[in-house]
Amino acid sequence: METSDIKIAAACLREGKLVALPTETVYGLGANALSDDAVAKIFEAKGRPHFNPLIVHMRSLDDAAQYVRINGMAEKIAAAFWPGPLTMVLPRLPGCKLSLLVSAGLDSVAVRVPKHPMAQALLAQAQIPIAAPSANRSGKVSPTQATHVREELGNRVAMILDGGNCEVGIESTVVDVTGDIPVILRPGSITESMLQEIIPQTTSGTSTTYKSPGMLLSHYAPDHPLRLNAKDIREGEVVLAFGSQLPKGSYTVENLSPTSDLREAAANLFAMLRKLDGCASKGIAVMPIPDGGLGVAINDRLQRAANR
Ligand code: TXA
Ligand code: MG
Repeated sequence: METSDIKIAAACLREGKLVALPTETVYGLGANALSDDAVAKIFEAKGRPHFNPLIVHMRSLDDAAQYVRINGMAEKIAAAFWPGPLTMVLPRLPGCKLSLLVSAGLDSVAVRVPKHPMAQALLAQAQIPIAAPSANRSGKVSPTQATHVREELGNRVAMILDGGNCEVGIESTVVDVTGDIPVILRPGSITESMLQEIIPQTTSGTSTTYKSPGMLLSHYAPDHPLRLNAKDIREGEVVLAFGSQLPKGSYTVENLSPTSDLREAAANLFAMLRKLDGCASKGIAVMPIPDGGLGVAINDRLQRAANR
C-alpha cells in the first residue's frame, strides 16, 4: 500500500473533496461526515435522492461512541463483528457533530467499522469519520473493483484508492439497534443466524413493519431487464449462471460459481452483472440460486435488480 496515496486521500477528504475507497464489501464514495457540504457532494455525484441516509465509517467502537449512543446490544454486536461487513443504525447523541444530511433527517445514523486495511489506514490518517455509500451512480450496481468506480464516477471524485477486488462483494448487513431488539434492515454476509448467536431476539425487518429508504425496490438496477430463476435460455438473452449444470444452447455466460459456492457467487455478483449488462441486447437470464446463508442476500439484490 502506498502511504503517500493515503496521505493525499486523507488531505482531500479533510478539504471536503470526494475520495473513492475500497472496503471489504464494496467500494465506497467517501466524504467528510462532519461536513454537510462534503456530504452533499456525494448525493450530487451519485444522482441519489436526498432522503436516502448514508453509512458513516469509523475506526472503532470508541470513535463511534463520540457520536452515537452505544447500548448493551450494540456493544455485543460490535465485539462480535467489528471491524467487518456489518452496519449498525444507532441513535445520534445530543450535539452529535455528524452532518445532518448524512442521516437524511432521521435521528439515527448508520455506523460501520470496516476491516479493509486501506479503509482503516485512511480513517487513521484523516482523523475524521467518513460518510460513504457504495461508489456507483444511483440505481446502478455496486462497484467491487476500482475500474468500476472509474467508469461511473471517475470525473466526479478527487481520487480513487485502488485496493483490488472486494473480498465480500455485497454491501454490509444493516441492523437497526435503536429499538428493543436488533432488526435487520438489509441482509448481507453477516446473516440473521450469526446475529442470533449473539442476540437471540434478532429479527428481519419487512418492508411493511419498517421503512428503510435503502430498501426501495428500485435500488439495484442494471440497464437491461433481469429474468430470475431461469431454467432455460430464450433467444438473445445473456446468462448469469450458477453451478455446473448449464442450460443447453449457445449464449454469452458469466458463472457466479461453477462449484456452487455461495461465497464465491457473492464476490462475483456485481462484477458479473455489470459485465453482462454491458454486452446484453435483450435481457439477462439468471439461473436459480439457493436461498440459504449468503444466498438470501444474493437473491435480495437480484430481486431488486429485477424490479427496477
Ligand atoms: O457495504 C456497505 O455498506 C457499503 C460500503 C461502502 O460501506 N456502503 C453502502 O452504503 O452500501 P449505502 O449508502 O449504499 O447504503 C446504506 C444503507 C441503505 O440501505 C440505507 O437506507 C441504510 O443503510 N441506512 C443508512 N442510514 C440509515 C438510518 N439512519 N436508518 C435506517 N437505514 C439507514
Ligand atoms: Mg448503494
